[in-house]
Amino acid sequence: MTDRPMDRREFLAGSATLLVMVTPLSMLATSCSSDSAIKAKLPAEVGFKDGQLILDLTQLRFQPLTRVGDGVKLDIPARPKPIIVTRVSPTEVAAFSSICPHAGYEVLLPEDGKLMCSSGHGGLFDLRGTVLHGPPKSNLERFEARLDKNLVLIRYPK
Ligand code: FES
Repeated sequence: MTDRPMDRREFLAGSATLLVMVTPLSMLATSCSSDSAIKAKLPAEVGFKDGQLILDLTQLRFQPLTRVGDGVKLDIPARPKPIIVTRVSPTEVAAFSSICPHAGYEVLLPEDGKLMCSSGHGGLFDLRGTVLHGPPKSNLERFEARLDKNLVLIRYPK
């Protein structure tokens, strides 16, 4: 390093290099802190990694998801009502909002492979959240979900 004062061009070049080096680190730190903030608000039995909720089907809480036609509700930060996770088939799970698109009442857990709206208006959905009977005119909001051995992985609903 020389003792001569840095001219304006050298200073700007050095600043740009520093900015390029620091930005990815700060983005990573922000991502990690938001991940840990989400995890801190989740029920203890729910895992969270890489933007996905992780449900371990060996845990008692998630045993209903080992049975086709059954399901569970999960309270998720930033969602006003729980999400519903269902076991659609031996190889398929589904996750969707419990908020009925008709008038916002909460949809109940499955019975006989169907989910009824709690309003008493007659809304009925299948295990994928697809509307079977009105008055709702649209399906429940779906979230990406998949089964991986004994784990259910759900893209975190925002
Ligand atoms: S709010 Fe669900 S059927 Fe009316």
